Amino acid sequence: MSTRPRRLYLQAMGIDVWQRRSRSHLEPSMSDPAPPVESAAVAVEPIAVADQWAQLITEVEDCTACPLHATRTRAVFGVGHRQADCMVIGEAPGADEDRLGEPFVGRAGRLLDPMLKAIGLNRERVFIANILKSRPPDNRDPRPEEIQACWPYLLRQIELVQPRVFLIMGRVAAQTLLETQTPVGKLRGTVHQFQGRPLIVTYHPAYLLRSPLQKAKAWQDLQLAQRSLANTTTTVM
Ligand code: URA
Repeated sequence: MSTRPRRLYLQAMGIDVWQRRSRSHLEPSMSDPAPPVESAAVAVEPIAVADQWAQLITEVEDCTACPLHATRTRAVFGVGHRQADCMVIGEAPGADEDRLGEPFVGRAGRLLDPMLKAIGLNRERVFIANILKSRPPDNRDPRPEEIQACWPYLLRQIELVQPRVFLIMGRVAAQTLLETQTPVGKLRGTVHQFQGRPLIVTYHPAYLLRSPLQKAKAWQDLQLAQRSLANTTTTVM
C-alpha cells in the first residue's frame, strides 16, 4: 500500500508517513496517478433536465413533510457533479451544514475531502447527498418517519444523477439504502448492489475522527470503490 494516494490520504489525516529517499521520490513518476481534473469540460444540460433539478431543489427547500423543517436553518439539498459517476451518501446535515446549506462542510467534511482525494476524486467530481435534507436537533439519529419523508428526494436525486457507483458513509445511510440492521463493520468490505449498481459502505468520517484506528479499513473501502469505478466504462471529467 505504499502508493501516492495512500500517502496523500494518510498525510491529509495527519499521519506521518516515512519514506525511503530516492530520485523517484523527488520527481514525478509515470506511475503516479494524474491529479484530479478540476473542471475540464462543462457538460451541457438539456433544459428539461435542468428544470427537473430546479424543481427538485425548490421542493426540498420548501419541504414541510416532517417536523425538522421547523428547526432547520437551511435545507441541505446536496452538491457536486450532476452526472457524477460516484454518488456519496451521508446521514444528515450537522450544525455547519445547516448553517451553510451544503453537505459535509464541518469537521467530518474536512476528512471526507482527503478521503475522496486519495482515490482521485473531489467534491466537484462526485455528487454528495444525505439521507435527510434537514438537520436533526442536537445531531440525534434520524427518526424512521423523517427518513421516510425525505426518501423520495434521494430517489429523485439518484434518478437524475444516474451514478455508476454509490459510496455510503456510515450506519444510517447504509442501513437505510440496504434495508438492513446489520452493523457497518459487517457491511463494509464487500460490494453490495442498489438499483443494480455497486454500493460500497464505509465508516462515517465523524466516526473515523473518534476512532482513528479504523482509518485503515476505510482506506480499503475507498480502494474498493475506486476499483468499482474503474470497472465502469466512462468517467465524468
Ligand atoms: N454528516 C453527514 O452525514 N452529512 C453531512 O452533511 C454532514 C455530516
